[in-house]
Order: sequence, then C-alpha cells, then structure tokens
Amino acid sequence: MSSNTSSSSYNNLDPAKLPSHVAIIMDGNGRWARKRLLNRIQGHEKGSQTVRTIVRACRNIGIPYLTLYAFSTENWQRPKSEVIALMTLLKKFLDSEQKEMLDNNIRLYAIGQIERLPENVRQALHKVMELTKKNDGMTLNLALSYGGRSEILKMVKEIAIKVKDGGMDPDSITPEIISEHLYTSQMPDPDLLIRTSGEMRISNFLLWQIAYSEIYITDTLWPDFGKNEFLRILKDYQQRERRFGKVGTQLKEMPKVI
Ligand code: FPP
Repeated sequence: MSSNTSSSSYNNLDPAKLPSHVAIIMDGNGRWARKRLLNRIQGHEKGSQTVRTIVRACRNIGIPYLTLYAFSTENWQRPKSEVIALMTLLKKFLDSEQKEMLDNNIRLYAIGQIERLPENVRQALHKVMELTKKNDGMTLNLALSYGGRSEILKMVKEIAIKVKDGGMDPDSITPEIISEHLYTSQMPDPDLLIRTSGEMRISNFLLWQIAYSEIYITDTLWPDFGKNEFLRILKDYQQRERRFGKVGTQLKEMPKVI
C-alpha cells in the first residue's frame, strides 16, 4: 500500500476489537463544493479521492469489509447532468483502481439494482468484480442504485415464491433465512455505521443489517473526511460497550442477534 498510510499511525488501535464491517454514508459533497463556489460535480470528484483514502486505510488497518453508499435508488431523481457525472466518476474509479485492488488483494463487490446502471459502468464493474473475486485481503462493497426498502421487497418476493411454489414452510423462516436473501448474504452485518456531514438520518441504507450497528455521525463533509478522523472514530468504537440488548455483566456470552 502507499507509504502515506504507514502502519505506525494505527498503533493505538486494539487489533482484537476492530470492526469486521464498516459501512459509510458518504454525504456532503454538494455542500463542500458550494462552500468553495465550485459546482456539485467538483464536490463528487473530491469525494472520489476520499473513497481512495478510506479504502487504503481500511486495508492497512485490517478491516475485512467496507461498504460505501455511492448511489441510492433515490439518487436517480437528481438532475440528469449530475447522474451522468456520478456514473462517469464511478466508471473512472473502476478503471483507475483496478490495479490497486489487484496489487493489494482487495475484492470488489457491489450491492443494489446493478441492472439499472449504464451498460459501460456495468461492464467495468463486472470486469473488476471478476478479476478480484478470489482476493481475500478485504472486500470493498459498493452500494450502487441501492435502497434498503427495495432490497427487503426483493427478499420478501423471493421467499414468498419459495413458500408458494417450492414448499417452504413459513414457520421455517428465520432471521438467518432473511439475511441469506439480502444482497449482503456473503458478509457480516456492519459493526459500525458512519455518516458524514452531520445529517441524523439512515436514508434507506442497509435497513435490516444495521439493527445492532454502532452509529457515528460526524459533521465533517465527505470530501474533507480523512484517515486521521477515521482512526479517531475507530478508537471511539473500540471504547463502546456493545450490549446487544443485554446488561453489561452478561457480555461474556456471545450475543444472539435475531
Ligand atoms: C452525497 O453527497 C454523495 C453522493 C450522493 C454520491 C457519493 C459519491 C461519491 C463519493 C463519489 C463517487 C463514488 C465512488 C465510489 C467513486 P451530496 O451530493 O448529497 O451532498 P450534499 O448533501 O452536500 O448536497
């Protein structure tokens, strides 16, 4: 990895208490641009650089899964020029980061209505996902055309069809079965959810999966977010007591999250 993310900065983190999965709502690109009298697209461009920084930091720290909310189902309603610019940036990111992902054993994965993405973006995405599918150093999971409610709807329809046509017994439906029918079936639920730009909202992100995630909201706008603040948030996370609905004295037992 690049030398400006040297491991010495990570020394005060407890390796035994790292989150397995960090999910981030990257917000504030537009406000970052407006404050500088730039256009929104320039904010997204700066935001792409932050994506690189945080992927590298996660890889160096040893966080196995990073999910980034890059484009929501609602984002299709933005002005056409902004949607096109975001798709162009995504394609650029996929082309330019392919080598970095291969060199650093990073697997690329994507969740969401991928079929709605423009053909050239889909092709680039599938190419990098295919090339990196055996990498096991870390998974970078991009939420693209993603919405939590449409994911839940998809899961309900799939299970309903199995009940109707496949003889699945409704009584056999468990939280694990539900998780298996979500886009994120191959990964643990997020331990930590970060949102930048100070908004106190979930915005239709991973609605089922964040049931017991620790939440951290920072006022920093995504383009200004960086490795040092990320490390401070991880330190804060490590100091929290995750009780999963229990009382502190019971925490030696493994939590059962249903
Ligand atoms: C929210 O900021 C951000 C987005 C909707 C897009 C996020 C995209 C990137 C960070 C860049 C491209 C992504 C990749 C993976 C290369 P906003 O536009 O809603 O900001 P605002 O609330 O200040 O207007």
